[in-house]
Amino acid sequence: MWSGRFRQPLDPSFERWQRSFPFDRRLLPHELDASRAHARALANAGTLSGEELGSMLLALDEIGRRASASPQYLEDGEAEDVHHFVEKELAALIGDLGYKLHSGRSRNEQIATDLRLYVRAAIDHLQEALPDLMEVLLAQAEAAGQAAMPAYTHLRRAEPVLIAHWLLAYVEMLARDIERLTDCRKRVNLCPLGSGAVAGTTIALDRAAIARELGFAGPTANSVDATGDRDFVLEFSTATCLLALHLSRWAEEMILFSTQEFGFLDLPEAYSTGSSAMPQKTNPDLLELVRGKAGRLVGNATALMGSMKALPLAYNKDLQETQQPLFEATDTMSALLPLVTACMRAVRFDYGRMQSAAASGFMNAWAAATYLVRQGVPFRRAHEQIGNAVAYCLQRDCQLADLSLDQLRQFNSCFEQDFYSCLTLESVLGIHDVPGGTAPGQVQVALASAKRRLASMRGLAHAHA
Ligand code: ARG
Repeated sequence: MWSGRFRQPLDPSFERWQRSFPFDRRLLPHELDASRAHARALANAGTLSGEELGSMLLALDEIGRRASASPQYLEDGEAEDVHHFVEKELAALIGDLGYKLHSGRSRNEQIATDLRLYVRAAIDHLQEALPDLMEVLLAQAEAAGQAAMPAYTHLRRAEPVLIAHWLLAYVEMLARDIERLTDCRKRVNLCPLGSGAVAGTTIALDRAAIARELGFAGPTANSVDATGDRDFVLEFSTATCLLALHLSRWAEEMILFSTQEFGFLDLPEAYSTGSSAMPQKTNPDLLELVRGKAGRLVGNATALMGSMKALPLAYNKDLQETQQPLFEATDTMSALLPLVTACMRAVRFDYGRMQSAAASGFMNAWAAATYLVRQGVPFRRAHEQIGNAVAYCLQRDCQLADLSLDQLRQFNSCFEQDFYSCLTLESVLGIHDVPGGTAPGQVQVALASAKRRLASMRGLAHAHA
């Protein structure tokens, strides 16, 4: 590709070591699409005749055919990268005409374009898969009906919430993950072709036409930036990373809640494994791997930032290092998502046990203090008085509802009979009656709204597909 200037051969081990073909070969379909678009632009600019264009397009198709027919075809010990591979194969198929394709273009714009096409496809794939998981969470939320569970802060029982409310929290996280990807896609979806090596191509190519042909919203605005930045790779990877962090929290909760200690749910055997030593065990391996792989995705995003930091403009070979973390993040996430969805679909909650956990443990204490606030007691005083009542109950191993009015009046004289109805689970849930709160009516509204948003997200995914 560039031997003219050189008088000495490369050290063979260096030559092998710097190649990216072993991993960038997966970009071949994008490289071929981009090459077709460039070839057409060359023909429109008069650099290729109509006949030459025809042979070139046939040869590019043939390369694609051979690659899908046999993985062996890509076992090329000489290609430096996917761009070099296509050029070599073109020359093998159509002789010197093959070398004309590189007129007016640089590998710097090619790799930037291939990566944008790759990231765009990866986003579209996740946008298809994520709504399936949201749908399963919504179905589980609906199935849970009015059943409640403890909500935790500091991993201590805090207040009761509907199980549906807890599940909808994950739906919100995933909805933001989808939005982040949608937003990232807008910045990805611009076409670097025509940027040349750094200063713009040397042939008057119709960049808008090239962009249109590849389904981009338009050409990138600056050739130095377009060839020299990979922020879109980083943006995609950090969006994927946040998704992985959300899934790791889900996995952690499912692991905890399925322990004998919690007993809130049964994990499906199809997604668990046994112990080779202890016959009684089922281990939550799927969940543990989801939690563990989040660490690797964080590592990939960190590696990308490290490679980008302080790079002078524009293209530097360091940028080749952005490919493997990107590919690994994409592979990891796309393998993991359908498994998470299938596992969540098969989970069975023990509503009875969750509900009884929700009804004990003084989780009505804030509601009890609110009763006093309604009688005009300043909240800080009410907090202290109910705190004293809880301590009193703990000594007697009873609940607030077990105290007589006389006992309660040691803490505040304004307790009346209606206090007891404030302590029931139903009432405690019911007073959180604000949008976004856990009162059953509010959760119903939230569920309906989440379903509508899911439908529009599916519509968006289809529009891109
Ligand atoms: N394989 C290279 C990469 O991934 C392609 C661009 C090479 N450009 C260059 N000037 N050496 O970054």
